[in-house]
Amino acid sequence: DLSDEPTLRRLDAALRESPHLYRAAPSTSHTDSSRRYYPIYNPSHREDRVGEVALSSHHDIEAALSSAQADRDWPGMPPEQRAEILEKAADRLEAQEYDLIALLVREAGKSYPNALGEIREAVDFLRYYAAQIRCEFDARRYQPLGVVLCISPWNFPLAIFLGQVSAALAAGNTVIAKPAEETPLIAALAVASLHEAGVPANALHLLPGDGEVGAALVADGRVRGVMFTGSSNVAKAISRILHGRLGPNGQPVPFIAETGGQNAMIVDSSALAEQAVTDILTSAFDSAGQRCSALRVLLVQEDCADHVLDMLCGAMRELRIGNPAKLETDIGPVISAEAQANIEDHIDRMRRAGRKIWHTELSPDCAHGHFVPPTLIEIGRVADIGGEVFGPVLHVRRFARAELDGVIDAVNATGYGLTFGVHSRVRSTIERARTRADAGNIYINRNIIGAAVGSQPFGGKGLSGTGPKAGGPLLLRRLTAQCPDYTPP
Ligand code: NAD
Ligand code: ALA
Repeated sequence: DLSDEPTLRRLDAALRESPHLYRAAPSTSHTDSSRRYYPIYNPSHREDRVGEVALSSHHDIEAALSSAQADRDWPGMPPEQRAEILEKAADRLEAQEYDLIALLVREAGKSYPNALGEIREAVDFLRYYAAQIRCEFDARRYQPLGVVLCISPWNFPLAIFLGQVSAALAAGNTVIAKPAEETPLIAALAVASLHEAGVPANALHLLPGDGEVGAALVADGRVRGVMFTGSSNVAKAISRILHGRLGPNGQPVPFIAETGGQNAMIVDSSALAEQAVTDILTSAFDSAGQRCSALRVLLVQEDCADHVLDMLCGAMRELRIGNPAKLETDIGPVISAEAQANIEDHIDRMRRAGRKIWHTELSPDCAHGHFVPPTLIEIGRVADIGGEVFGPVLHVRRFARAELDGVIDAVNATGYGLTFGVHSRVRSTIERARTRADAGNIYINRNIIGAAVGSQPFGGKGLSGTGPKAGGPLLLRRLTAQCPDYTPP
């Protein structure tokens, strides 16, 4: 409870006492005295050096793959015992909650509520997959794939990182985890928790590094399955590599990708405007828009557009943007100077194309880091946006009632299909959006972010992902193969 005084005092202390320098390195027994460490800086404060990371060398990759391939302890362990270890890791994360929040704030620029939500989600993943192998998993029928490679993004450096790793481990695979280059420190803490909980060192390796490390791992024949969350372009590059090589029996290598979106929300003239505005604000700007699920395109019926947009601008003016280490902050930084430049380039391009643009102001606090003010851009066609803009930018398209199908089709035509929302009190409009929008997760009269593990399995269609959904009942099956000699009882 972030309004509780003792909680706030503990949070404050955790942040002040947060170690001066965290370290992440490849977790292989291979030692290299010439290891070079690179600094990781706080995205909201360029001078705050949070820690340092050693990138994985060719030797590290080799050592990790051989050790993960040779491990027999983890795949041979009864599922109940694996479940117990994953649950123990969840307990450890909960026990370290304040320290994890401090690191999520400093390394990933998370606000306190976002950091807390992320830890809850990571714990939920661990417990959810553990529960699945306790109750539903028939270990005689499904055997592990072998070494599974998990490649993760920086925007959920704990929850998505652990969501992938815990699913792959739960299914009995050994794992090579390649975290995003921006957030290796939190990944190193997560791996330490799993090792301390009892996952054998040989069964789980952390290999920090950039896309080249990821690509080298994808290309290696010892990797028998790939879980990837990140951009659609990188997913395509990985898919191309995997098409060029088959598994040991000539079968395709299982590839699970969760990627970007061009997520839209319809607000029609029957919608409750106050509720719609609250949900637009959260969907578009929470986490500085750096959620795959975030709202990118608001489709607002022209009859209510001025009213909704006036209210939205008023609500945006109230947002406090700045250092997420302050409790009053609503919106923190974007992850890096490069991310900031990409988002600003898009806004400039739109401005040059004559689009109407409005944004909030940044406080002087923001001069120390990478901040982009929440921004609205009016567009004529959904296709004008181009690809996914991963930041606090909301495109607005007004539509006439008769165009409802057309605007939904225009969103479908982008090829993405991750989240979609509708705010309406007309049953036929809701039904139309629900059945016509080609998206993995559709939300009605609520915000479109923050899917809950277990009850709202999360994942997209088309350019947005391959499925099976994360936090859903089908994922573990995809991370196994049916035993060739299995005969049903
Ligand atoms: P990214 O694609 O740039 O990087 C993701 C990971 O892939 C990183 O670990 C990176 O090092 C690695 N990588 C880069 N090039 C590679 C290559 N050629 N081969 C193998 N690995 C490679 O994405 P990002 O900037 O870290 O994350 C933001 C993106 O992730 C956004 O597009 C967002 O929508 C998406 N995302 C999707 C989901 C989802 O569940 N659908 C969730 C979170 C983020
Ligand atoms: N699961 C995260 C969300 O729904 C990505 O926002």
